[in-house]
Amino acid sequence: MLHKRIHIKVFLLAAFSFLSVSLFAEATIAEGKSLFKANCAQCHAKDMKSKLTGPALGGVEERWSDYPREDLYSWVRNSQKMISEGHPRAVELWNEWTPTVMNNFPNLTDEQIDGMLLYINDAYVNGGKKKGGDGEVVVGTDKSDDGSNSMFYVFLLAILGLLAVILARIVSNLNHMADEKEGKAVGRRATLVEQLLSPKVIGFVLFALILIGGYTTVNNAIDLGRQQGYAPEQPIKFSHVTHAGIQKIDCQYCHDGARRSKHSVIPATNTCMNCHTAVKVGSKYGTGELTKIYASAGWNPNTGKYFEDNVSYEAKEEEYKKWIKENFVAAKPEASDKSIDAEVTNQWNAIAGHLGKPIEWTKIHNLPDHAYFNHAQHVAVGKVECQTCHGPVEEMEVVQQYAPLSMGWCINCHRQTNVQFADNPYYDSYEAYHDQLKDVKSGRTGVTVEEIGGLECQKCHY
Ligand code: HEC
Ligand code: HEC
Ligand code: HEC
Ligand code: HEC
Ligand code: HEC
Ligand code: HEC
Repeated sequence: MLHKRIHIKVFLLAAFSFLSVSLFAEATIAEGKSLFKANCAQCHAKDMKSKLTGPALGGVEERWSDYPREDLYSWVRNSQKMISEGHPRAVELWNEWTPTVMNNFPNLTDEQIDGMLLYINDAYVNGGKKKGGDGEVVVGTDKSDDGSNSMFYVFLLAILGLLAVILARIVSNLNHMADEKEGKAVGRRATLVEQLLSPKVIGFVLFALILIGGYTTVNNAIDLGRQQGYAPEQPIKFSHVTHAGIQKIDCQYCHDGARRSKHSVIPATNTCMNCHTAVKVGSKYGTGELTKIYASAGWNPNTGKYFEDNVSYEAKEEEYKKWIKENFVAAKPEASDKSIDAEVTNQWNAIAGHLGKPIEWTKIHNLPDHAYFNHAQHVAVGKVECQTCHGPVEEMEVVQQYAPLSMGWCINCHRQTNVQFADNPYYDSYEAYHDQLKDVKSGRTGVTVEEIGGLECQKCHY
């Protein structure tokens, strides 16, 4: 016997709360992912299966399952402390990975670490297949793995909605029958359409739609214009592996703006010419790529001189073709006349567009106009390494955007990083901090960017 009326609301509510729980789980994984990328990915591989500077993190919770969960939190916050205290797992790790020291993350909360562990597990179990294997560079916007589950939720929502309607209908029938049996006066029973169009149901559906809509809009808007992993093809196959890696040319030799100005600046053709008037034929592309630089600079590799102003296009074309042909024949003495002609035409076609024009490099990093970022402040004053923000560029054949460049990324680092406090006269005015630093009892070991106002909106926004 049914005593109470069961309301359609209960079912809708159940369906909705199930949905929101799923969305919530997604949100923490997504949050864990961005925290991981900003803080851990430089040392721990994103596939969670291969070793990098640090161990593969897949299955890490199992390896720590003999200890309280708090131990794993304290490891992430301060691993060296646990090692010196003799924690068995910490010591085991240290013995394997000495002398590489993991960074400390004292400001991460339990929830944030949980989020990262969720993401680690998700990437370990589901992620490996979708992306390339060990160490493969992921090119593109790298968003594909975020949206893959959304179809599933839409489907689930549809099924749950249908179920709710059917159940509500059954309940309403039962209630109606019960009322009749109890001899209550019953009017005409509301039809399905009337029930669905009742103000309560409409109100509820609207509420749910606004919530879901708001969630997805905000989520997508945050990603708008972001391009982590972006690695466009460049007009010249310039390699940071060759120059910064093998040849060990200092980053600032080419990007000399980084030390003294807002922008790092891509080097002008003249900088390339400092070396490439001597290094004229490359080991990989022969004359193919380097001649583009000469065309841009208006330099004649046959004579080793810049062209005079009055030299015609045709005369220049002839000189470059001669250069390409001689080097090709020298490299491949057995080549037929036909293949020589084909090679010369091919190379010239790729080079001609650069004649007398600056090289148009495609910009990879792009902050929106409303955000203010200054290289000199970070490189010269803050002494932050290029690689902290740009990753191991010297290992990148094609440069890719390493960091998300999101506001959260800037803020996180400002919370965790100390400024060069002692040796910067600019900070002399912060007497309280100086006094605390001198006083061992105060527990202060440094001053973070946050503490000098690095989280104030107007510092980063015009
Ligand atoms: C500078 C490189 C570096 C960074 C950054 C880094 N780690 Fe590590 N991590 C290591 C190394 C190296 C080890 C191995 C132990 C050691 O030598 O300290 C390790 C070990 C670990 C372990 C233990 C793994 C196991 O199998 O028990 C966990 C968990 C871990 N790191 C999580 C993180 C998280 C989470 C982050 C980001 C918040 C992070 N690490 C950032 C280098 C790093
Ligand atoms: C021989 C000159 C040279 C050296 C040395 C060099 N770079 Fe570059 N860098 C370039 C050129 C040219 C480009 C533009 C083409 C490209 O993206 O590959 C570039 C592009 C970049 C970009 C992407 C800029 C954008 O468009 O957003 C970054 C980041 C970068 N370099 C960082 C570094 C770092 C870090 C080092 C040192 C490890 C370094 N570079 C060493 C010449 C150099
Ligand atoms: C604190 C983080 C950080 C550090 C450290 C850093 N960069 Fe950058 N870099 C950025 C950001 C953010 C941008 C995007 C700037 C923009 O779009 O206005 C950028 C852009 C660039 C560009 C593209 C041109 C430009 O200036 O917009 C080059 C090249 C570059 N960085 C090279 C370097 C080199 C070389 C170093 C080390 C000497 C370095 N960066 C250090 C964050 C950093
Ligand atoms: C400090 C010296 C130096 C500077 C500056 C320099 N390069 Fe190079 N570059 C080299 C050396 C050395 C090689 C290796 C030559 C080889 O064996 O392939 C090289 C190789 C190359 C190659 C590969 C050629 C091939 O076929 O393998 C290209 C392309 C190139 N440089 C472009 C540039 C550009 C563009 C610039 C300016 C942004 C530049 N280089 C600045 C020294 C320099
Ligand atoms: C890897 C760490 C790191 C990242 C990432 C980073 N910063 Fe910073 N930032 C610093 C440090 C360290 C300083 C302190 C430099 C100094 O002593 O003045 C600083 C200082 C600043 C300041 C001056 C603050 C003040 O109070 O004078 C601004 C503005 C700033 N950063 C903007 C940005 C923006 C915008 C981004 C993101 C696009 C960013 N930073 C990302 C480390 C970082
Ligand atoms: C350390 C630097 C920094 C500080 C401090 C900072 N922002 Fe931002 N903010 C950024 C950067 C960088 C972006 C661009 C992020 C992107 O392109 O996704 C941004 C983007 C935004 C956006 C656009 C929405 C978005 O996520 O792209 C808003 C709104 C915003 N900030 C508001 C604020 C407010 C309000 C404050 C003060 C409470 C603040 N910001 C402090 C660096 C900062």
